[in-house]
Amino acid sequence: MSNEPLFLDKALASFDALWSPRVLTRVNDYDVRVAKVRGEHIWHVHDDTDEFFLVLDGELRISLREPAGERTVVLPRGAVFTVPRGTEHKPYAPSGAELLLFEPSGTLSVGDRHEEIPGHVDATTGHPLGS
Ligand code: NI
Repeated sequence: MSNEPLFLDKALASFDALWSPRVLTRVNDYDVRVAKVRGEHIWHVHDDTDEFFLVLDGELRISLREPAGERTVVLPRGAVFTVPRGTEHKPYAPSGAELLLFEPSGTLSVGDRHEEIPGHVDATTGHPLGS
């Protein structure tokens, strides 16, 4: 973690891997992560934590399985959305997106329960910036 100012554009330019978040900084026991995404993630659930998304560029869609049924939220650049703990969700970005995520350090990108992880999805608690 840096004690110098960080810049989102430089952080995003420092890696190319998709669905593989980098930890930008920490706030108390939370990570601020950035990620590049394209195509589909997987259905998964975080049993004990909400998950915050801010779309920095592109468009993210998140399908949600809620008690009332399944729906999809469409999040263009600048949109903020929080997936509540315990809600099964699947992010996808047909044309790609860049994201900022805020969630407790140690939170697995594929949740506590998930469907089979395909090769293009990284199951990680976030990589250090610059790795
Ligand atoms: Ni999630």
